[in-house]
Amino acid sequence: MRRILVTGGAGFIGSNFVHHALGASDAAVTVLDKLTYAASRESLDGGGDRVELVVGDVADQPLVEKLVAEHDAVVHFAAESHNDNSLSEPGPFIQTNLVGTFCVLEACRKHDVRLHHISTDEVYGDLELDDPARFTETTAYNPSSPYSAAKAGSDHLVRAWVRSFGVRATISNCSNNYGPWQHIEKFIPRQITNVLDGDRPKVYGSGANVRDWIHVADHSSAVWEILQRGRIGETYLIGADGERDNLDVVRQILTALGRASDDYDLVTDRAGHDLRYAIDATKLQTELGWQPAYRDFARGLAQTIDWYRAHESWWRPHKAAVEAGYAAKGQA
Ligand code: NAD
Ligand code: TYD
Repeated sequence: MRRILVTGGAGFIGSNFVHHALGASDAAVTVLDKLTYAASRESLDGGGDRVELVVGDVADQPLVEKLVAEHDAVVHFAAESHNDNSLSEPGPFIQTNLVGTFCVLEACRKHDVRLHHISTDEVYGDLELDDPARFTETTAYNPSSPYSAAKAGSDHLVRAWVRSFGVRATISNCSNNYGPWQHIEKFIPRQITNVLDGDRPKVYGSGANVRDWIHVADHSSAVWEILQRGRIGETYLIGADGERDNLDVVRQILTALGRASDDYDLVTDRAGHDLRYAIDATKLQTELGWQPAYRDFARGLAQTIDWYRAHESWWRPHKAAVEAGYAAKGQA
């Protein structure tokens, strides 16, 4: 794979993957990104002349066809990615996550190009807190929000294009990511930047909801392994045994920043809020030998806090507007 096309490569996870790919190979990377509010060009800094950014829409069929034809593989990250936004305005989620994936699939079919599709564990719905089960590759789809339903639909399209047209695709469903360059609308960076601002973290509902946290660098290394050695037509779940409830995460952020661990606010819950996600990554580990590098959440979180402290100029211009949006929904 000498030329790799990364859709959504100026976003949080996509940009991390671009840097991983540059470090792991000699490949040249083209990023196709619409540069929505969630993107940042700076996240691609340091890529040098092996990275080219094409600003465009993944749902622009002629553009996607032209780009796909020029590459050996496509890694498809581009998506609208925030559940809360999908509850306020679902339209862009249908357009980008479903129509965009359709365009990528048609281009890969026409030009017989290898595809890896990035998805989420949220397609499986949620688990009870005391359920001993975790999600596996055979768990039934049961999405709750417009975001997760659109991602589920995109997975179904990929599976259908594999079976009906022989598209050479793999899928991965990963759990919640944290790390540098994550937009401050999301849970962990929102709470870190609130505390850095002297404000209090804002926890939905009772804070009992559980997410299975994985460092973004581990997501990238897993996707790289699947792209190199994954079996065509297969789905791989990506997770790093990082289950934690939201209150626990907020208490760790507060403590790390020298504040009392109960110095948070409980705010209006998210509609349809999934209770718990949990990944069983046995298939990825046994078949491809993948292991996460970040096993210590406290260490990964401390590094992430340091990163947000050092990159205030990146997030500061967006902070007031993000908080105003949450305030309008009773979540600030
Ligand atoms: P993000 O919102 O940070 O980045 C998404 C990127 O896609 C942005 O750069 C944006 O400009 C681009 N984009 C959006 N619409 C586009 C369009 N129509 N055409 C071209 N580019 C477009 O999201 P993220 O958190 O980096 O997530 C990336 C992928 O990983 C998504 O597919 C998401 O579903 C999946 N995922 C995310 C997580 C998580 O915890 N964030 C977990 C599992 C899977
Ligand atoms: P989020 O980062 O939006 O990811 P996802 O919805 O994909 O899991 O939220 C993670 C968890 O944190 C989820 O249970 C919702 C909760 N949450 C809060 O409690 N407060 C917040 O301000 C945000 C943004 C999320």
